[in-house]
Amino acid sequence: MYKRKMLIDTDTASDDAVAILMAHRYPDIEPLAVTVVSGNMRVEDGSRNARYTIELCGAQTPVYLGCERPMLREPVHAYWYHGSDGMGGMNYPEPKLRAANGHAIEALIENIRAHENDVILVTLGPLTNVASALLRAPEIAKMVSRCIVMGGAANVVGNVTPAAEYNIWCDPEAARIVFRSGMNLEMVGWEAGRGAAALTDQEIAAVYAFNTPFAKFAMECNAHALQLAKHWQGDPGMTLHDPTAMAVALDPSISKRRGKYRVDVETRGELTRGMTVVDERHTVGTQAYFTDEWAVRQPNVLTHHELDAAKWKALLYQCLR
Ligand code: BDR
Ligand code: CA
Repeated sequence: MYKRKMLIDTDTASDDAVAILMAHRYPDIEPLAVTVVSGNMRVEDGSRNARYTIELCGAQTPVYLGCERPMLREPVHAYWYHGSDGMGGMNYPEPKLRAANGHAIEALIENIRAHENDVILVTLGPLTNVASALLRAPEIAKMVSRCIVMGGAANVVGNVTPAAEYNIWCDPEAARIVFRSGMNLEMVGWEAGRGAAALTDQEIAAVYAFNTPFAKFAMECNAHALQLAKHWQGDPGMTLHDPTAMAVALDPSISKRRGKYRVDVETRGELTRGMTVVDERHTVGTQAYFTDEWAVRQPNVLTHHELDAAKWKALLYQCLR
């Protein structure tokens, strides 16, 4: 069977882990490499969590350490949200799989070049590794068949500030480089994983009842984040943002409302650092008085606003059974 090749760039915490697991359990996907970036976790912790997850899936996908901090900003981690180990405080044993030799930036460039037009890139953390690879080898932008970004918020509320989602806010300069690179981008924003996409208590119980190591792992390591999603973010259940982006990568038909728009990233705003500004009405370019560079910029991102919750959950369950 032909398998779609995939690269996963991640700051592996508990929901990243579920996304990595999905890619390894989905029938027609061949994960080429996992590259780790500083974000929710320090890179060493992200690497350990990614390697543990891959080992659980019985795979040996190489895991590369990447950028230890954003391009210009101070690192800001989120252990308070994902637990002291990033895995809900489960303290899983040290994986046997060692980190691969070499840097994530090189691994991205080499794999994309080696599989020109036949590689899907899924990003689950800040975009520092990907932007650095693009600065070093700008031609790779056109060699990626699809790049699905978990990040941003399409003109709606953010999770770190009212205007911004964490992955973009953490390294807005990197995000801007990626969004302006000419890559075939898709954005699965924070809102896509909320509301009906969250797993209710009943659904979580049903997943545990699958009685597989994958189901148990996915639910237990996200139990810490579940409490915060419910009580701090006001969500109805377990939000799995990175897995929703992975689900769109695996099966684009789970996207219910989407559109191709000009999207750019705010890097300087006093209140809006890291905001993904989505031109949903195609405002720029149609206004006679608009003369700055925005006006000539074309739609660059397929923005997934809303998922088919039932289909997304069915896909998740398929990977956990
Ligand atoms: C992002 O931050 C983390 O909570 C998740 O892993 C996701 O990548 C959502 O803002
Ligand atoms: Ca993440």
